[in-house]
Amino acid sequence: MKSLKFECRLKSRVNVLRSIQSKHRFQHHCLASENSNVARTNLTPSQHVLDIWHKAEAVCFDVDCTVTVNDSLDLLAEYMGVGKEVENLTKKAMDGTLSLGQALEERLKLINCKPKDIKSFLAANPPQSRFAKGIVSLVTRLQERDVTVYLISGGFRELTLPIAEQLGIPRQQVFANRMLWQWDDETLEPSRLVGFDISEPTARNQGKPQAIAKIREAHTYSSVVMIGDGITDLEAVQVSGGADLFIGYGGVQRRAAVEKDADWYVMDFAELEAAMKCYQVAMIGSGAWACAAARMVAQNALENTSGMFDTKVKMWVYEENYEGRKLTEIINERHENPKYLPGVSLPENLVAMPDLLEVTEGADLLIFCSPHQFVRGVLKQLAGKVKKGAVAISLIKGMRVRVDGPQLISQMVERMLGIDCSVLMGANIAEGIAKEELSEAVIGYDNLDNAYVFEKVFQRPYFEVKLIPDGPGAEMCGTLKNIVALAAGFVDGLGYGPNSKAAVMRQGLSEMMNFSTRLYPSIRSETFLESCGMADLIATCYGGRNRKVAVEYASSWQAGAPQTFDALEASLLNGQKLQGVMTSDEVQEILRMKGWEQDYPLFTTINRIIHSQLDPSYVVKYKEGAGINISLHADPTVLKSGDTPPKGPRLAPLNTF
Ligand SMILES: NC(=O)c1ccc[n+]([C@@H]2O[C@H](COP(=O)([O-])OP(=O)(O)OC[C@H]3O[C@@H](n4cnc5c(N)ncnc54)[C@H](O)[C@@H]3O)[C@@H](O)[C@H]2O)c1
Ligand SMILES: [Mg+2]
Repeated sequence: MKSLKFECRLKSRVNVLRSIQSKHRFQHHCLASENSNVARTNLTPSQHVLDIWHKAEAVCFDVDCTVTVNDSLDLLAEYMGVGKEVENLTKKAMDGTLSLGQALEERLKLINCKPKDIKSFLAANPPQSRFAKGIVSLVTRLQERDVTVYLISGGFRELTLPIAEQLGIPRQQVFANRMLWQWDDETLEPSRLVGFDISEPTARNQGKPQAIAKIREAHTYSSVVMIGDGITDLEAVQVSGGADLFIGYGGVQRRAAVEKDADWYVMDFAELEAAMKCYQVAMIGSGAWACAAARMVAQNALENTSGMFDTKVKMWVYEENYEGRKLTEIINERHENPKYLPGVSLPENLVAMPDLLEVTEGADLLIFCSPHQFVRGVLKQLAGKVKKGAVAISLIKGMRVRVDGPQLISQMVERMLGIDCSVLMGANIAEGIAKEELSEAVIGYDNLDNAYVFEKVFQRPYFEVKLIPDGPGAEMCGTLKNIVALAAGFVDGLGYGPNSKAAVMRQGLSEMMNFSTRLYPSIRSETFLESCGMADLIATCYGGRNRKVAVEYASSWQAGAPQTFDALEASLLNGQKLQGVMTSDEVQEILRMKGWEQDYPLFTTINRIIHSQLDPSYVVKYKEGAGINISLHADPTVLKSGDTPPKGPRLAPLNTF
């Protein structure tokens, strides 16, 4: 799911994060042992421990006495008739009298088996007969949630691979020691056991954290959990670069030291399964895009076999009457929103509700998708009332202008609710997605763990989600493209051809990039090539409501009967809201405040056209349009529908003064 490219790009960032996390983790453990006289109740996990468990992207299991109810090598020794002697050596290794390497060497010497012995041993003791209670179910559930499961064994690969196979764990996710064989010159087959490969990390003390360090080097997991019964498993969190969490398992063997120092100690794997997070999802908004997005979310919630999401998805509907009845009632009865997304069936587990607080009560994942002018009001009602630990994502396009500068909607959510807010942006015209046409989107994030959860919320076979570490970039793209869509609509409405439209779109993209990076220097230029950038710009300039209304606006001027945007929004959009006009005003206010108007001639000209200060034909003469001195010569009366349109510019160009 996580693309290789994405992994590479993230690698450096994650490595930095990881080294910080590991250091932090190491310090945490030192502190824990220094304060060991403080009573610990690691049988009940703390919120911090639960958070890591919920968000773990990789879980590593010890094998002997964790995945299986016995130690495979001891069992093989017993099978070979040297059980007692080998058991004594195992004990010595466990209490530290013998090094891990020495103990393994000694045990192998005593066992002295041949390949055929291993085969017959495995046939007599198949893995499925030795699994610890609940392990198969736990591993399956983790895999269903896209958590990568590893086996890290201090035993041997030859005995571990059949166990991995039974659990559906690929062999590259198995770390264990390798037996070394003497090969028979005549049969060209391994004949006698001569030792083991000491180059494997698990052949040495502190081998488990080393194996995890290797795993982390190859992947960008933000959190890794180790589960096991032994001291060597506990080491996974005691050494820098290892796991983020250690869960001790005492269902087969209870070891006092492990029990004492584990972050969480369980006697039954069912406890871990029960504690897996089941996220409640709330959609705030019920327009065309909100319904199309909620449809995908509810489909995922219904299909999620791993139980990661509560199947009931609540959707807040700004209540209104439709055909004499409450819209919420109609949606819940017909499983369709006939006003905003007619003809599209919504899953039955998507429940429309008129009470905002009832929708968000208990919700872990909040999805904001209402027209941006209403978000502040919504957030005011929610402030201080969202569930602790809840996180958000915004699908909203638009921004807020304040005296001290612009504020993105995600920033508003973060500030007013005090929670992390990612964004989902892309070439996503609601109707196409509702028809399950192939579409793409990005999740721009600050917190990767949360982005992974939201990826699972939205990803559908027809809706490809990619994660990018550039929330502001994605959100600025989504916001600004609506202004360019108006320009594209004017071009279309006036009957200009593809060359002119392409020229306007190119200029639009260039102004989008320049303006975004000027306001937020951390924005990455590659974001503009993602679905939220160029692709969304294309989609919106060819389809979408902003273009549609702008086409009519320009045609009405051309026909000599100009209409206002308000009138066109009301007559063409059936209650849907036009974002482009408002965004253009918001952006223009920033340009004016900063004295940047002339640096963005297309944005400026579009804003002047919207306010009837320029004829729409200035869209193809945007440089000239932006150069006209409006502040000196602005006519305060804005043209109303039915007024006679002026010929040419209503304002004298600057250079005539
Ligand atoms: N429609 C699309 O294709 C599309 C695609 C991508 C992104 N978006 C963005 O998603 C956001 C939501 O778009 P949409 O299409 O779901 O809705 P919309 O813009 O069509 O708005 C209609 C919604 O606004 C609600 N509403 C009306 N008055 C309200 C009030 N006073 N308070 C709160 N809500 C009120 C209506 O009940 C309805 O649910 C916008 O920012 C839009 O730019 C839309
Ligand atoms: Mg063990």
